[in-house]
Amino acid sequence: MFNKTNLIVLLLPFLILTSCLHKQNNENIPDRKWWKEAVVYQIYPRSFKDSDGDGIGDIKGIISKLDYVKSLGVDVVWLNPIFASPNDDNGYDISDYRAIMKEFGTMADFDIMLKEMHDRGIKLVLDLVVNHSSDEHEWFKQARSSRNNPYRNYYHWWPAEKGIPAERFSYFDVNNSAWKFDSLTKSYYLHYFSVKQPDLNWENPKLREEIFNMMKFWFDKGIDGFRMDVIPYISKDTTFPALPAKYNGDFLSYYAHGPHLHEYLQAMNKEVLSKYDIMTVAEGAGVTSETALDFIGTERKELNMLYHFEGMGLGTLPGFKTPDPKGYSLIDFKNVYSKWDSTLAQKGWGTIFLGNHDNPRMVTRWANDSNEYRELSSKMLTTFLLTMRATPYYYFGDELGMTNIKFNNIEDYRDIETHNMYQNVMNKRGDLRQFIENQKMLARDNGRTPFQWDNSPNAGFTDGTPWIKVNPNYTSINVAAQEKDSNSVLNYFKKLIRIRKKELTLIYGKYTLLENANPNIYSYLRELNGKKILILLNFKAQMSSVSLNNIKMDNAKLIICNYIKIPDKLTVLRPYEARIYNISTSNN
Ligand code: GLC
Repeated sequence: MFNKTNLIVLLLPFLILTSCLHKQNNENIPDRKWWKEAVVYQIYPRSFKDSDGDGIGDIKGIISKLDYVKSLGVDVVWLNPIFASPNDDNGYDISDYRAIMKEFGTMADFDIMLKEMHDRGIKLVLDLVVNHSSDEHEWFKQARSSRNNPYRNYYHWWPAEKGIPAERFSYFDVNNSAWKFDSLTKSYYLHYFSVKQPDLNWENPKLREEIFNMMKFWFDKGIDGFRMDVIPYISKDTTFPALPAKYNGDFLSYYAHGPHLHEYLQAMNKEVLSKYDIMTVAEGAGVTSETALDFIGTERKELNMLYHFEGMGLGTLPGFKTPDPKGYSLIDFKNVYSKWDSTLAQKGWGTIFLGNHDNPRMVTRWANDSNEYRELSSKMLTTFLLTMRATPYYYFGDELGMTNIKFNNIEDYRDIETHNMYQNVMNKRGDLRQFIENQKMLARDNGRTPFQWDNSPNAGFTDGTPWIKVNPNYTSINVAAQEKDSNSVLNYFKKLIRIRKKELTLIYGKYTLLENANPNIYSYLRELNGKKILILLNFKAQMSSVSLNNIKMDNAKLIICNYIKIPDKLTVLRPYEARIYNISTSNN
């Protein structure tokens, strides 16, 4: 008969072996975390899958496609806001933080979705939009009703008797003014975004408590994290002084990143975040590599990750969303991502992304969406995203190589940002034709067109009329076609995820940029515990040479390449070629 001691003696060798293996894996990896090893897949719910024929994606639609999400191999889904909203800015204007947007479904649908995700081992991250609410939120309705209302201080007001408030910039206002006069109480209220997105007043402890309680409400339901919308804006100088003479349009340093920002984030961490095993990622507008660790340094006890804007700004000219006709410089691109890697090499943890709901499709923006190169160059970008030392945030549809829709007419756009800017250009008698050309490259709606499931009408997204046009290339670019094709962009993405998951070197390994002056090739090493992996990426539509002079290639084993035909020359990469080699000298 077995007693407890017998059992332990019997299992001892096994226990020692597993603990050794575990040690080996963890060697030199001090602070392993699930969110560092995860691949995050971002879903724009409005455009993913419509279940009821109203032309708007919804929660039941997402539930019906969870097996697809699972098949990708991703670990976390980040959903853009799903809360009650009049949709002035597609859900970034919330009228009730504890209710589901009616177009998306009900709280019961949400509970099912969360359970179905968890049953499949997928975690769920929601969007926390607390710099502003909707003007249709009960708090704002109360606040604007009288100067004495108890909710008045939930927002920022400037009484008219003090004169006209000092200039503040608004992104989504036709005149770019962030102050809106409200005649009932003869005061201006502040809105950094649209007039329907009044800024919340974080100076008010009651407001902070409401937000923290609301966060607990969602964590207690079991969600796994928050992506924090424009979080550096929550603290501002609320005396709203006039802008100094030296003001050069750098509004982030004057309007956001205020004196209490870190105090608020530390309180949020202490009272809410630290109590759960969750992840947080800040939308780091205005955060630089010098200030990043103030947000995500472990000892700061604030947030886990942030994403910066430096990469996304490349290849643009000053002015609103103006692409540089010359494109972007790969050398600048390498510098940005290498700088951020070194900023976070010892402390903190990075993120990496090339597209999201505020940006165009990655293949159009960063590579080549022509028939000839769309597939190859999508795979090349995917190789970059999945081999950097950072958590990849991968935008839905990029796994198919979806492209910008490039609308010709303003009527086809749905985004408040594009419409307001169009009006603004018109008011200033600017060049509307050029504006539309610029939007074809940079407008947010390019990344918001419906997901392309198959070649049935509306790409299988809806039985109704889609809220925004479907990209006509859905007949050839869609999930059904790509699932069948072992060489598709989709299957390449899945393969790479499997490679990353198996290979801790690709997650935690040291990153070293090679050949920083090569204008066509991005090449780098990843190294961990004696294992060495080499990544070679050709960002150009031409054959390009790479110098491997100092790299020992004797034992090189090709792990993956985005061309079917095996490369015949080690040092020449075909257009948009991507290769990953294991170049370890031992048998790693
Ligand atoms: C963030 C969101 C963007 C939204 C804005 C206002 O930048 O990503 O979509 O319009 O904040 O909430």
